[in-house]
Amino acid sequence: MPKISNPDNSNLTAPVLAGPILAGVVGVPVDHSLSPLIHTIWAHRAGVNGYYIPLAVPPYYDDFAKAMDSLRVIGFKGVNVTLPHKEHALRYAATASPDATKAGAANMLTFGEDGPHADNSDIEGFANAVMGALGERAAPRSALILGAGGAARGIVLALKKTGVVDLKITNRTREKAERLGAAFGMTTLDWSARSDAVASVDIVVNTTSLGMSGQPPLEIDLSSLHKNTMVADIVYTPLETPLLKAAQERGALTINGLDMLMHQAVPGFNAWFDDQAHVNKALRDELVAELKKRG
Ligand code: ATR
Repeated sequence: MPKISNPDNSNLTAPVLAGPILAGVVGVPVDHSLSPLIHTIWAHRAGVNGYYIPLAVPPYYDDFAKAMDSLRVIGFKGVNVTLPHKEHALRYAATASPDATKAGAANMLTFGEDGPHADNSDIEGFANAVMGALGERAAPRSALILGAGGAARGIVLALKKTGVVDLKITNRTREKAERLGAAFGMTTLDWSARSDAVASVDIVVNTTSLGMSGQPPLEIDLSSLHKNTMVADIVYTPLETPLLKAAQERGALTINGLDMLMHQAVPGFNAWFDDQAHVNKALRDELVAELKKRG
């Protein structure tokens, strides 16, 4: 369990009297999560007395609800929620943000006086990762989304937030892409059309599990990719997927899963610990070192 403490903090009286701040990440499996490390790093920097704990909860709603009830009784400020509990979190909440409602899933629960509040910072996280990578460049207006599974919905909502108006989606199982396409006003393309489609968009996003360690690579021909097109991958093991590597070789700006992960953690830390979460190179370097250590 990562310990977050700051014995040198001159302002220790109030936190000691109040007890440490408690938060965590709920999922199963959850031991691979980098969230405890991210929050620990930020807490050390901010001099916060608190703990952010990985919490494995069985994959059923009843177990999830019991676990959340207990965390509230013992004074947890809130939790991040990962697979397979993101829909459970929304169901459990008394209130929900527009993003969580639109996504039909939440990755954040905050335990306030008015009951548990659900939010979806995956959406804001991806939108901020895109905006952060852009620098002086114009925001993307058109996008190609590869995959129509659990992660695709949040990515679509995030792209809309960044100003994307023309969305194309493609998936191996076409019906799933059509369902999502109809829900969000996207054009559905055949999976076999994915390589040709990269030529006409400002950003390409892989939301499939292809390219992840232990999975086959995403087969796509990037020869028609424009050098100003961004390419994003939700995967962070490995950090540089074959897709991102091929995109970088063509001079494209890339966003990896770690960029998204760091940005999605910001709202939780700011809500529960202290308003001082920053995504920067120092944080990235520590996370990359941890991933290398894990192999
Ligand atoms: P869900 O959230 O629905 O459980 P997921 O596992 O998050 O699904 O989604 C995985 C995504 O990767 C899906 O878009 C899946 O395509 P299908 O809907 O056709 O299953 C995609 N995917 C996984 N393996 C794939 C492969 N070998 N080729 C192409 N797409 C693949």
